[in-house]
Amino acid sequence: MTQWICTANRGFATYAMEELRRQFEGIKISQLTHGEVFIMESPLTREAVLDQIRTNEPIFLRHIHPVDKKLPIQGSADDLQALSELARHARLRIEDKQVAVHLRRAERSPYPYSTADTKAVLDAVLEEVGAEPVLQSPDVILSIFAGLEELYVGIATPEEQLSDWPGGAVRFQREEGQISRAKFKLLEAERAFHIRLEEFREGLDIGAAPGGWTHLLLERGLKVTAVDPAELHPSLFQYPRLTNLRKNASDLKFQPGTFDLLVCDMSWSPMQMVRLVLDLEEALQPGATAIITVKLMHKKPLQTIKDVISRFGTVFVLRKAKQLFHNREEITLYLVKK
Ligand SMILES: C[S@@+](CC[C@H](N)C(=O)[O-])C[C@H]1O[C@@H](n2cnc3c(N)ncnc32)[C@H](O)[C@@H]1O
Repeated sequence: MTQWICTANRGFATYAMEELRRQFEGIKISQLTHGEVFIMESPLTREAVLDQIRTNEPIFLRHIHPVDKKLPIQGSADDLQALSELARHARLRIEDKQVAVHLRRAERSPYPYSTADTKAVLDAVLEEVGAEPVLQSPDVILSIFAGLEELYVGIATPEEQLSDWPGGAVRFQREEGQISRAKFKLLEAERAFHIRLEEFREGLDIGAAPGGWTHLLLERGLKVTAVDPAELHPSLFQYPRLTNLRKNASDLKFQPGTFDLLVCDMSWSPMQMVRLVLDLEEALQPGATAIITVKLMHKKPLQTIKDVISRFGTVFVLRKAKQLFHNREEITLYLVKK
């Protein structure tokens, strides 16, 4: 039997639970933070669970970490003592490794210490056992979730946890003159899907305004055709590689095979969006990449996603479907044209 702390975007935990229930037999689930964090108990071993998650990653599961140990919260320095003891006992697993400490907490957790205080104490123990405390690019992460009664503690690699950010909450720095928050979605997709945007030549951005995604593609060196009846941010016109078409995307035709990248963040009815993208299919080269957000307007997101993916399946191969941290009522698809 193994236990896992699972995290989804706020309000989407029920869908992550549903995906996990379909995938794993005999699991038990209970909520830790409403709509966001829950604990899953599985009869399978750690390796079997990780293996299944790796081969069939649930769309709404943003982060998962094993519970190697549960420590009752005392609300005093004893908690730091118990965590330190646990780190000392984990010596064999962390010795000579770069280790990050991540702490998250339920809203009314009685655990009395801040992340900084917890980290300061544990970092000293890590050094004592021959590990190197780091903030970024760790080999392994010591994850702690402070619940209402217990600390749930586990060690796993960033790949196993599906993220190297605490709870999968990826943070990007705001830039001066930032055009839209939407840019973070494409930045996150680039990281999450291991896509090297700078390797594309010519991109088509459908539903481009105000222009966060277009801006990122221009920064990565692409030629960009940005389509939107709405206005783009004026700062984008300094790029001679930008073509702006102030039109509805359904009124457009391009030379076949013009683009090797399509991005689409239209925030529109999913099925209308699918039709529109499929109508533009010829404009894409074979092997072209598409990064598309799918708005979850209906009550049954899993069914909507299934329908969208199946429709796209006539033209594209699905590489990954994921609700990213910066997605709100939507998910992001990573597709490659056949
Ligand atoms: C969420 S915004 C896009 C934000 C953009 N990705 C960014 O980074 O700034 C959605 C945009 O899609 C545009 N849109 C919706 N339907 C469209 C269509 N049929 N053709 C072109 N643009 C469309 C809207 O005008 C709106 O500006």
